[in-house]
Amino acid sequence: MKFTVSTLLFAAAAAAAVSTVSAETWKITNEDSGSRQNLCALQVSTCQNNCGGPDQAPMAFCNTTTMAWGCGCLKKTPDFETWNWPIPAADCKGSNDVCVNNCNGQSGDRSKCFISCQDTHKCNTEDAPVSYTETDDTSTEPRYVGPAVSYKGDKLGDLNDGNDRSNLVASEDESSSNSDDSSSKEGETDKEKDSKNSDATSVFKTASLALAAVVFAAVSI
Ligand SMILES: *[C@@H]1O[C@H](CO)[C@@H](O)[C@H](O)[C@H]1NC(C)=O
Repeated sequence: MKFTVSTLLFAAAAAAAVSTVSAETWKITNEDSGSRQNLCALQVSTCQNNCGGPDQAPMAFCNTTTMAWGCGCLKKTPDFETWNWPIPAADCKGSNDVCVNNCNGQSGDRSKCFISCQDTHKCNTEDAPVSYTETDDTSTEPRYVGPAVSYKGDKLGDLNDGNDRSNLVASEDESSSNSDDSSSKEGETDKEKDSKNSDATSVFKTASLALAAVVFAAVSI
């Protein structure tokens, strides 16, 4: 039996079709352990620099498991723009990447979808979506998902990053303070999201394995 190029293309197309059944869901803790550690180190050093040195930054923390972060200086209020701190910036970029991936998973004309990702993810600017990762201390778990509003306070369109924000209402202080009131209801929602996300991941893995098996079979014939 011989495998032709078209057999392979068919297998690839089938694998791709399966992998896009569930949308990808973004959460900053999706980053692997190495990336989380690098990001945390950068977050802490950026805080220390802003404060004027490590001895001036008693409240520079970052939890490499939850990515909860905070910055407080001894003699000043940190004056770094929130959307430029390493973790909020990475949170925006990750959400944007998932938005684009989710557009790619759509059929038909995707250009509107891509433009919408750009409009809702003006990362590293005051128009970026607020990152709900900042907490009061290292053991408080971030909220992660909050209303889609910018740091400037504008309501944003659908971030299309797999997180359901339909029942979240922006409070008046949402854009200025990343409140982290983690009620048990939100905890449940997070768990649901986690399982959704791992479903999508496992479907993708299965599809990738199937494709790899076909390619391997073709090569070894
Ligand atoms: C990180 O957060 C988790 C969960 O809130 C907590 O159990 C853990 O102790 C924290 N790690 C550090 C180093 O504070």
